[in-house]
Amino acid sequence: MTEQVNVLVVGEGGREFAIAHKLQQSPKVKQVYCAPGNVGMKTVGVMPVDIPETDFAGLIRFAKEHQVAWTFVGPEDCLVDGIVDDFRAAGLKAFGPSARAAQLEGSKDYALNFMNNYGVPTARHASYRDQTAAIRDVDQFGFPVVIKENGLAGGKGVVIAPDRDTAVQTIKEMFGQGQARLVLEECLQGQEYSMFVLLSNDHYRILPMAQDHKRAYDGDKGPNTGGMGAYSPLPQLSAADYQRMVDEVVTPTVNGLVTGDYNYHGILYIGLILTAAGPKVIEYNVRLGDPETQVILPRLATDLFDLVDAALNDQPLPEVKEDPAACLGVVLASKGYPTKPVHGQSLGEFPQEDGIEIAYANVTGDLGDLRGNGGRLLMVLAKDASLKQAHDRVYRYLDGLDEPECFYRHDIGAKAGL
Ligand code: AMP
Ligand code: GLY
Repeated sequence: MTEQVNVLVVGEGGREFAIAHKLQQSPKVKQVYCAPGNVGMKTVGVMPVDIPETDFAGLIRFAKEHQVAWTFVGPEDCLVDGIVDDFRAAGLKAFGPSARAAQLEGSKDYALNFMNNYGVPTARHASYRDQTAAIRDVDQFGFPVVIKENGLAGGKGVVIAPDRDTAVQTIKEMFGQGQARLVLEECLQGQEYSMFVLLSNDHYRILPMAQDHKRAYDGDKGPNTGGMGAYSPLPQLSAADYQRMVDEVVTPTVNGLVTGDYNYHGILYIGLILTAAGPKVIEYNVRLGDPETQVILPRLATDLFDLVDAALNDQPLPEVKEDPAACLGVVLASKGYPTKPVHGQSLGEFPQEDGIEIAYANVTGDLGDLRGNGGRLLMVLAKDASLKQAHDRVYRYLDGLDEPECFYRHDIGAKAGL
């Protein structure tokens, strides 16, 4: 057997929990470090490292000192700020796109231009630098209209305004809060899906797909969040519609990345709505999704280490094998999330139960006496023979908890008929 290696994951959320956990399970890996990680990661043998994800020099120093084979970057802000470029300049391998490619997520305008250039189907849209023009044009998109901040906003910079008055007020507020630019878009109708493409420049593999639940409350009500729950696979997505996504979206996107010389080695997350007229892209993200990662990686039967290692070394990518089992997870969030989340509440201990995994995210304190740290605290997930079984197991567990300062959605998986 070849010698085992160390790897580093950058980030601290549930997504990084899932990435680090999966890598720690690889027979090729000795130790996964996660900077800064979270205390819950210790439950799966991952070692949190006290270096903030913004301290690129500190991370580079750590990677060198601990003979890290490569680094997997979780969050978008580091990528937009050029972490991969800095690692490369220091002679280190990091999985993720360059700062230039990360603009596909960092700027809505940039992404829309890319889609227009390379023939990727998207919503009818226009970009505005001033309030008067945006308000003048808003009727052209019909109502509801989608209003997006141009920059990174953690999934929370999008407002779907049901009528003109709300739209005008939102436009004024966004420009008033200092937004230099915003995008207006036609509101697409159809189910939303998350697709993840693992790229090694022109060579790629598609990971298992998932569906997120963006709104805070049951029935897709309330404000947009980072995501409140997810599941995989997607029984409602036909093979023909999946193939359309590959042909009409993935193919021109990868062609654009290669033609545009992005030399993309990382994950591209394509957010899609399957409309009556076919799949349309609503966003690119330059990383894995949170909470989708927590439900797709347990279903990945190919070693994630092998996939990333091959991509970073420009070797042929192994095939992606999907475990036929289903995975469903529900996010436990702080009361008040996403607008005014409670901080510091006592969570106690989460009992171990067969078939249940806790993917920890925003938690602090000790494993036996955890405290919430705002936002999405953790995900309760199960992998089982069917989605229904995974669903029932997760909700039985959640219903048995007593967490008055937290909330969760009760309808994760409803669109799959659960
Ligand atoms: P984004 O930050 O672009 O992913 O948008 C956040 C959420 O807003 C998406 O996950 C969708 O639920 C919703 N959304 C964004 N764009 C559109 C659109 N053109 N039509 C309908 N819903 C959208
Ligand atoms: N689940 C949505 C995101 O990661 O952006």
